Amino acid sequence: MPSVNDTLQAKRAAARLGGGQARIDKQHARGKLTARERLDVLLDPGSFEEWDMFVEHDCHDFGMAEQRSPGDGVVTGVGQIDGRQVLVFSQDFTVYGGSLSAAHARKICKVMDAAMKLGAPVIGLNDSGGARIQEGVASLGGYADVFQRNVLASGVVPQLSMVMGPCAGGAVYSPAMTDFIGMVKNTSYMFVTGPEVVKTVTHETVTQEELGGAQTHNSVSGVADFAFDNDIDALLQLRTLIGFLPSNNREKPPLRPCSDPCDRSEPSLNTLVPTNPNQPYDIKDLIHAVVDAGEFFEVQADYARNIVTGFSRFEGAPVGIVANQPTVLAGCLDINSSKKAARFVRFCDAFNIPLVTLVDVPGFLPGTSQEYGGIIKHGAKLLYAYAEATVPKVTLITRKAYGGAYDVMASKHLRGDINYSWPSAEIAVMGAKGAVEIIFRQDKDDPEAIAAREAEYKEKFANPFVAASLGFIDDVIQPENTRRRLCSALRSLANKQLDNPWKKHGNIPL
Ligand code: HXC
Repeated sequence: MPSVNDTLQAKRAAARLGGGQARIDKQHARGKLTARERLDVLLDPGSFEEWDMFVEHDCHDFGMAEQRSPGDGVVTGVGQIDGRQVLVFSQDFTVYGGSLSAAHARKICKVMDAAMKLGAPVIGLNDSGGARIQEGVASLGGYADVFQRNVLASGVVPQLSMVMGPCAGGAVYSPAMTDFIGMVKNTSYMFVTGPEVVKTVTHETVTQEELGGAQTHNSVSGVADFAFDNDIDALLQLRTLIGFLPSNNREKPPLRPCSDPCDRSEPSLNTLVPTNPNQPYDIKDLIHAVVDAGEFFEVQADYARNIVTGFSRFEGAPVGIVANQPTVLAGCLDINSSKKAARFVRFCDAFNIPLVTLVDVPGFLPGTSQEYGGIIKHGAKLLYAYAEATVPKVTLITRKAYGGAYDVMASKHLRGDINYSWPSAEIAVMGAKGAVEIIFRQDKDDPEAIAAREAEYKEKFANPFVAASLGFIDDVIQPENTRRRLCSALRSLANKQLDNPWKKHGNIPL
């Protein structure tokens, strides 16, 4: 007769084996880690406390009464990343394809409820065939229970999803409601309807990878925020991401020791902006030059590359950076870049992460595709996000800040706290050429007159001093001093207090 302890050990061993060695081998052969191996990489060694290891499904249909697997296809519990608590669930594809039963959903809901009570992030590692087909509507109910919690947790604790296998059908909507989605290249995919249904309905022939792989969602749809080479890379980068985030919306983001001097001068910046205003330069050179140790964790690096978003630190304190990118579409704002940046700004604002905005924007991208696509509504998202944000907002205009885009990019008028420009800034309704073509149309056949008018317009507006004389720019700074000035601005804003008027919620133009 085995002792109680032997029984416990046997049950634990059975749970740890998931769907059995053959299925584990299959998982490995695909280049994927198992659910537990993933948690070993993600969490600090020895920190994982598993919950609900013995939970089993309660389905009796389709032969399920005889098929049971302790844990029911998802490993859940609490662990630590760099000593900070996180709640985790990791779907086990070796058990019924990681499919979601009512019991599986209850386990996920338990960690989400705990995350809310404890004020700690939730991390989901998704690898699932979707609704447990044998359970029918009970499984759909389970999904909806998770969705409801995603929404209640939104803006309260960070929610991070890593898609590491299939994620299809309505199952995609839980990751979609989390703050960030990472995907692993070649082994993960997300779609609402798979290639077979697409073929039947629209007669398109498309592979899983083309329809919903990491590349697609990172560069075409913008659904995902990160694409990683493999499971290990994905999990290690997730640790890095967590390092920028507070545990909940009542905390400030975690400070790190910083050995990079805050008064470090960077003379290379004095020549970063080319003298030809139509010549691009890489805004990431500025970012790398001024942030702590050049470290920049980019978000949505391959989507809407005309705007750059991501996390860095100044004096050890995390910031969110939003920067127009002159090398892509001359840094214009368009539909996709507006949506990308708006979501990032709102995330930072929800979680007390100060915003540093680097501006070089010639305006909104013109054209029928933009207008028909709703640039008015989508551009308004970014305007709304900046105007609503109450976190410290520090803005630096390096070159162009034209038209409505000047207003949008964390201008003084949208409660920018400290607004700097470089001497090379041009803050105006539009570029000199366009302006002269409109207001001096009568001179259009007189090149000399046009040239003189353009020179006059440039002289008057293609500089930061008109805006500075109106107090819209707090100071015009030397490029080489940018790090020192940004550090001191952020330091001075560390205790900023600002509340928006009470409301149930605003009505952001969705
Ligand atoms: C129960 C499932 C399952 C599911 C997979 N399995 N999906 N069991 N419910 N949804 C089981 C398989 O029977 C198999 O069991 C094991 O998991 C591995 O599956 P394979 O098919 O062998 O793996 P693979 O070839 O890699 O294919 C993976 C897959 C495929 C593409 C995910 O299994 C698949 O198409 N599954 C069905 C997907 C689906 O239609 N789900 C419902 C979507 S609708 P054995 O015992 O052989 O190892 C949905 C609605 C959500 O999710 C709505 C929320 C609002």
